[in-house]
Amino acid sequence: MKNQTEITGGRRQRIILFPLPYQGHINPMLQLANLLYSKGFTITILHTNFNKPKTSNYPHFTFRFILDNDPHDERYSNLPLQGMGAFSRIFLFNQEGADQLRHQLELELSQKDEPPVSCLITDALWHFAQSVADRLSLPRLVLRTSSLFCFIVYASIPLLADLGYLDCSNNKHPEEQVVEFPMLKVKDIIKTGFKRDGNAIEEVIDNMVKQAKASSGIIWNSFKELEEPELETILRDIPAPSFLIPFPKHFTSSSSSLLEQDRTFFPWLDQQPPNSVVYVSFGSVAQVDEEHFMEIAHGLVDCKESFLWVVRPGFVNGSTWIEPLPDGFVGERGRIVKWAPQQEVLAHEAIGAFWTHSGWNSTFESVCEGVPMICSPFWGDQPLDARYMSDVAKVGVYLENGWEREEISKAIRRVIVDEDIRERARVLKQKLDASLSKGGSSYESVESLVAYISSL
Ligand code: UDX
Repeated sequence: MKNQTEITGGRRQRIILFPLPYQGHINPMLQLANLLYSKGFTITILHTNFNKPKTSNYPHFTFRFILDNDPHDERYSNLPLQGMGAFSRIFLFNQEGADQLRHQLELELSQKDEPPVSCLITDALWHFAQSVADRLSLPRLVLRTSSLFCFIVYASIPLLADLGYLDCSNNKHPEEQVVEFPMLKVKDIIKTGFKRDGNAIEEVIDNMVKQAKASSGIIWNSFKELEEPELETILRDIPAPSFLIPFPKHFTSSSSSLLEQDRTFFPWLDQQPPNSVVYVSFGSVAQVDEEHFMEIAHGLVDCKESFLWVVRPGFVNGSTWIEPLPDGFVGERGRIVKWAPQQEVLAHEAIGAFWTHSGWNSTFESVCEGVPMICSPFWGDQPLDARYMSDVAKVGVYLENGWEREEISKAIRRVIVDEDIRERARVLKQKLDASLSKGGSSYESVESLVAYISSL
């Protein structure tokens, strides 16, 4: 064991990382990879050809492509590249990827000219990797890309289903409090979209929870002071160690962006007064229909604040980009782009609020920059993040009634002018910054992760 901690060829042991191939999962995994590289480890990334990141941005890593190398294999060559259908790869590879992963890992483990492999780190949703790693006696850690709170709720889905919380037709009122999670309303659980009707996503979530608990450790994109009670629960319930690391504070995710980032608006943004611009983005997957898109547009124009709006191509169902908007609709106060360097935008002093779909990366990037949020979640972890930000951390306003222009305008104006919410976001950021100093919780978490991996 001692020999393994020594640096081989100037670098410590090798770590193999295996992200889930979607933007919200690739970003934190490659931020983690950069962090571990900066601590002296050699990095190998396993990835699908689907959604592969720009490898030239990572000349210091070795990339190996697995699972979908055969373009003639119709099991995946015909799968959708965008939208919800693109997620079918998660089910397919979890079911059928074990042999390929084992073969690749055996090759990696047998390489004599590389530093020894100390562990595999996979996205928690690659649950099939646990049994593969076990067979090879290779420790597997997981990266869970959502909050600790989300994991705890997901782990309770079978219980919540038994109690009737997932069934829209039951006699619970949507506004009722969930007894087991008092900060949640019944409608928050329903909005996750889980139905417990034996569909594939629920099986993946159950297995994700089970195999994360069986792993050698869990790495989270969070920090202790944000989720202290949840951390206590996790430490009580899961024997493997947990490491809470605020990735956006270490590296930006620009280099792993799958879409080209527009930067042409920066001269305009630079001219705006501090805290005056609303940044609007709904992540890499969510879609709306045209009617809701127009409500969003009206809400933004009517609120009379300046805004920078990311409309991803394909965001509006049935449209290529922003065709439903009449020419000149957004006026002088607004800018629309297809994709932006989000962390850099959030860090800009002109940004006063972030209207978000409450994906965890977006939520946490906002927390990292002290920007208060307007939350419009779609599904999955997003309604849980939205409720947590609005009712627990109190750094956001939850637009609970969907897309309605007057409510949108009111919420935006409130977040832009409300000094209390801005102050809470600022204090939370200060706590996070303090946690990064020597002796702080996030600093110690990185140190203990490095020591732990070195000891494997
Ligand atoms: C998905 C789920 O929606 C989310 O709920 C889950 O937590 C992770 O997987 P996504 O919808 O893409 O992710 O949202 P999010 O987690 O917020 O990740 C989006 C990432 O894309 C962020 O890192 C953000 O910085 C980046 N981004 C977004 C850009 O770089 N530019 C943009 O214009 C918009």
